[in-house]
Amino acid sequence: MTFAELYGRSATARGEAPGRVNLIGEHTDYNGGFVLPAAIPRRTIVEIAPRGDRGVRAWSAEFPESGTTAYTLGDERRRHDWIDYVQGLTAVLAADGLQQGFDARIESTVPLGSGLSSSASLEIALGRAVRDAFALALDDVTLAIRARRVETDFVGAPVGIMDQMACSLADTTSALFLDTRTLEYSRVPLPPAAALIVIESGVTHRHAGGEYKTRRDECAQAAARLGVHELRDVGPDELARVDALPEPLNRRARHVVTENARVLETVDALKRGDLPAVGELFLASHASMRDDFQISVPPIDALVEVARGVQGVYGVRLTGGGFGGSIVALADRARASAAAERIVQAHNRAHQASARVLVP
Ligand code: GLA
Repeated sequence: MTFAELYGRSATARGEAPGRVNLIGEHTDYNGGFVLPAAIPRRTIVEIAPRGDRGVRAWSAEFPESGTTAYTLGDERRRHDWIDYVQGLTAVLAADGLQQGFDARIESTVPLGSGLSSSASLEIALGRAVRDAFALALDDVTLAIRARRVETDFVGAPVGIMDQMACSLADTTSALFLDTRTLEYSRVPLPPAAALIVIESGVTHRHAGGEYKTRRDECAQAAARLGVHELRDVGPDELARVDALPEPLNRRARHVVTENARVLETVDALKRGDLPAVGELFLASHASMRDDFQISVPPIDALVEVARGVQGVYGVRLTGGGFGGSIVALADRARASAAAERIVQAHNRAHQASARVLVP
């Protein structure tokens, strides 16, 4: 349904934001570390029109069966539903001056539960529409900080800030090198000879679920035992101390410490245009997530094994929070499309799976 069909008038503001794929730097963001996401060519679009009262109505083309959902500003309550991202954002933005209600229409091509930040994409797209409609003074970094609070304070997902920063600031032709401690960032162009492949495994995840929080808690415990504020403060030269921690804290910390180092090496390799080196780093990252951080699942490992053997692929890894979701591969640009198709066909045939190509 169009905005006019839903609400009998036209939208007056619109916001857009892409989904993201993380190239490398997984579960480092809530440890104060480094991440390297890029935008994907799939987006969430939100249209809105202000109302004369404090009412909010929202409709999502992804959940047409839920119809239009209504609530009042100041009376946001968790419903364990997509509307929580809308409610969470209006609750957070009250302190930035959002005092007037609106009607909203949402549509998205970012798949849900696939590790590609559909929720952050919605938060940023809606934040942009609201910012424009009500002239709120929020820059893109502040908007990302607010959007993360939607997850941590309203939805109850104890995430880091990578996804919101990526959906707010990243583009599809470069990787966003972000220091999650300082929020300093720079854009690292993807070499012209390279292309990213993103394949959805068909196994979906949920972050509010326990495993993500368990990993977070384990990292905090490891940091406390090592006497540092965050695992970011442990260098790769201190791995002997990390290895001496009890299981599984030793593995969790080893992943974070080595993953931070791999992000820095990946940035250097991309700048040199050394695609085989980036590919090796992707593979090492996957092994670390599988064996040390233990956030992979057999269907994802199978997909990675198929992909790494396909011509034109330099390296491949699980991307996002884990326990399902998507894989990202670095490929030779000229062979990327064919390689992506070959991976999906071979994997689906061998495992009766329903993986599909999202990029390119
Ligand atoms: C999810 C979270 C991010 C980050 C990743 C793992 O996407 O939202 O903050 O922790 O998992 O790298």
